[in-house]
Amino acid sequence: MTGPRQLEQLDREAARLAPGASEESALGRRVFVEGRGAVLTDLDGNQYIDLAAGTLTQSLGHCHPEVVAALAEQAARLWNVHDFATADRAGLCDLLADLLPEYLDTYSFFSTGAEVVEAALRTVQAVAEPGRNRVGALRYGFHGKTQGARMLVHWDIGNQAFAGNSVLGYSPYCYRCPLELAYPSCGVRCATLVRRHIAEKSNVSALVFEPVLGAAGVIVPPPGYWEQIADSCREHGVLLVADEVLTGGGRTGTFLAAERFGIEPDLVALSKGMASGFPFAVLAGRSDVLRHPQVGRAGSTASTYSNNPLGIAAARATLEVVRRDTLIEQVDVLGALLSEGLVELQAKHAVLGDVRGVGLLYGLEFVRDRDTREPAPEIAREVYLAALDLGLRTSIGGHIIRLAPPFTIDRDLLEEGIALLGRALERVTGAER
Ligand SMILES: Cc1ncc(COP(=O)(O)O)c(C=O)c1O
Repeated sequence: MTGPRQLEQLDREAARLAPGASEESALGRRVFVEGRGAVLTDLDGNQYIDLAAGTLTQSLGHCHPEVVAALAEQAARLWNVHDFATADRAGLCDLLADLLPEYLDTYSFFSTGAEVVEAALRTVQAVAEPGRNRVGALRYGFHGKTQGARMLVHWDIGNQAFAGNSVLGYSPYCYRCPLELAYPSCGVRCATLVRRHIAEKSNVSALVFEPVLGAAGVIVPPPGYWEQIADSCREHGVLLVADEVLTGGGRTGTFLAAERFGIEPDLVALSKGMASGFPFAVLAGRSDVLRHPQVGRAGSTASTYSNNPLGIAAARATLEVVRRDTLIEQVDVLGALLSEGLVELQAKHAVLGDVRGVGLLYGLEFVRDRDTREPAPEIAREVYLAALDLGLRTSIGGHIIRLAPPFTIDRDLLEEGIALLGRALERVTGAER
């Protein structure tokens, strides 16, 4: 239950605050005042294990001391000089060169996920051959809320599809296969159809995709999906633009999810895993694309907050810790623990229709009935709220709950978090009902 001091704050702002908050904050009604590592504290002093890691931003947990120190030091010195170089920028470029595949050697810096997706789209537009005026995207993809990004969005929870000039292909949503087939006997037909589409439509300039579709519920492609599609894009001169705003920075067990799935994108958009929750985004690309004369025209990467000194300092500190403490290796170790715990919960609770994920990124799909697979958003909501009341923060969207713990979470705390989720499920479906 939301405590009295929080209720007072929420009531006070309610008359003035425009509606439109995320489902998780509108439902959760909490006022958080502090975050340390994987633990949040609310205004009434209650604590929560944060298995949503901020907005999947806190790979190092909340308020990592080295990031706090870097930000405090920068905040005391310099906040904005347009896109002039600052002392950390060259170091950040070196770090990115070290962490990313070698061929992704050119970068520009922005503030948000949607902004960097827009920068990628502008890049595609600038290098596209005449007649290639369409951009491919995948069903269930999410790429942000600015108009260009929305053109690519086809995720029907919270955001309406907006046709624009994008071309949508099948995503590898095995649990709800649109072709009513089953893996592996399907031969990954969804990919074959995307491949055919790319081969037949000579007007597609790029495919913008999430290697693992995050917002729509952590849709993890089966083997063979990306191989087919990436080959086809290469063959037909279609640029591969990986939207790794959510997955980039190690969340799936490799710095880029694209590496895990054997894709070599031409451009990559990164944000959440870059700067520990400070608004920051990176467009990484092949130098021949980002140094193309039409792309690198004066001012094309500049905006009020692009190359922001605070963002650069936070990103540099974050990525230095990720590299020095070999945190990405921890992702698979902790991910195995998380997966094991969730599979056990699924065996006990029929409402958990599907549990899927990779690294430290998991989606739990709630259903009314395992046979019909009818989505059960009302059960997801009850579980989400019960978990909060028990001291566990997760992330909810429709009938799906997502889990994305910090890479630095203590093993015991992760186990405690999974146990709390189990208690929340019991409260909603079992003995405590
Ligand atoms: C894959 C992906 N792309 C883009 C975005 C948009 O990022 P932002 O909310 O920072 O604009 C998100 C946000 O969740 C995302 O998950």
